[in-house]
Formats: sequence, structure tokens, C-alpha cells
Amino acid sequence: MKSVLILNGPNLNLLGTRQPEVYGSQTLAMVEDSCRQHGEQAGLEVACYQSNHEGDLLDQIHAAKGKYDGIVLNAGAYTHSSIALMDAIYSVEVPTVEVHLSNIHARETFRHTSYIGRAALGQICGFGAFGYLMAIDALLQHHASREVS
Ligand code: DQA
Repeated sequence: MKSVLILNGPNLNLLGTRQPEVYGSQTLAMVEDSCRQHGEQAGLEVACYQSNHEGDLLDQIHAAKGKYDGIVLNAGAYTHSSIALMDAIYSVEVPTVEVHLSNIHARETFRHTSYIGRAALGQICGFGAFGYLMAIDALLQHHASREVS
């Protein structure tokens, strides 16, 4: 595995000031920097992108095919509504790990459903910004186990 895309959806540009009691005090730039540092330690190229627009996120997922070996996706509220994002992940076949800062299963029932989770390798939630680093490690492990078998 050589490269990974860290893709963040709506309202995640507001990290740091947005409900810090739920999402923590780190800004998105800080989260992205720690992803870059973590990835670089493993020899990975890390690209980061955030959009508040579903279509932009779809375009990024489409463009990831053949360009990135994995996607770390926090689709924000689109997680719970977007069949289009789910279909995009199925379509491009780029291994994707779903991340949420908060534990969506301990929150309102409408957050318990994830369309992303159907298409993703797995889901990491509830560990704050550390979850993004866990997701990078999960992708590394996924690729390493495929190379061995
Ligand atoms: C979130 C959880 C979602 O339910 C919410 O809409 C977000 C952030 C998280 O990272 O915990 O925007 O994806």
C-alpha cells in the first residue's frame, strides 16, 4: 500500500469549534496533519480532502480508483442518508474504512444506521481523532494480509 485518501464530509471543516464535547478540540487541519505524520512513518503518501457537498465527495471517491490504495472516510451526516456514497464505494472497489469521531451507536437512533458501513471494510467510531490513525493502520493491515495470502 502506497497511498491513502482521508476524506471528510459535511461540517467536519468546523472541527475544533463544533460541539467540542462531542467531537473534541482538534481542528480538521490538526487531524489531517496527524494523519500525514502517521502515514509518512509507514511510507505512505497521504492526501486529504473535505467537502460539505455530496457530489464533491462522490467525485473524490470516483477519482480515487487507481490513484489511492485506500480511503479513510468520515462522511459525517451523509453516513446516515447517502445511498449514493455507498454505491460509489462499491463501484470503485477501493478499500474503505469508515471513521467517526463520536460513538454513533451511543447517540440518537438515526445515527445508528450507516449506509457507508455496508460497503466499507469496517467501521471505527468513538475514539476521537485517534480513529483516523487506527483506520490507516487497518488499511495497512488489510493490504499486508492480502500480500501474504
Ligand atoms: C460524525 C457522526 C455523524 O453522525 C455526524 O453527523 C457528524 C460527525 C462523527 O465523526 O462522529 O457530522 O461522523
